[in-house]
Amino acid sequence: MLKLKFIGNDDTVYDLEVQDGSTVMENAVRNGVPGIEAECGGACACATCHVYVDEAWTEKVGEPEPMEEDMLDFAVDVRANSRLSCQITMSAELDGLTVRVPDSQG
Ligand code: FES
Repeated sequence: MLKLKFIGNDDTVYDLEVQDGSTVMENAVRNGVPGIEAECGGACACATCHVYVDEAWTEKVGEPEPMEEDMLDFAVDVRANSRLSCQITMSAELDGLTVRVPDSQG
């Protein structure tokens, strides 16, 4: 199991234990983290799973693919560390990852 931390937009902290190979979005939905609607179910077609990756993790998480980049245009208040959480897959490299739910969601 890997550790994944969500910080809600009211600063509530969700410390999750998650499976290798699961997406950040799936774990938010499974654990009822508010603000991650994931309307398209992870198809990179809705932008309602937008998160901010903690600065300490941006390098490891990496840049969005072009398709994700296009979809991020539909998210609100997009920043340099914005990602769609359905496009981030948990792995040993990302053990301990921290992401924040944008203020505009939830
Ligand atoms: Fe729709 Fe991520 S769940 S883009």
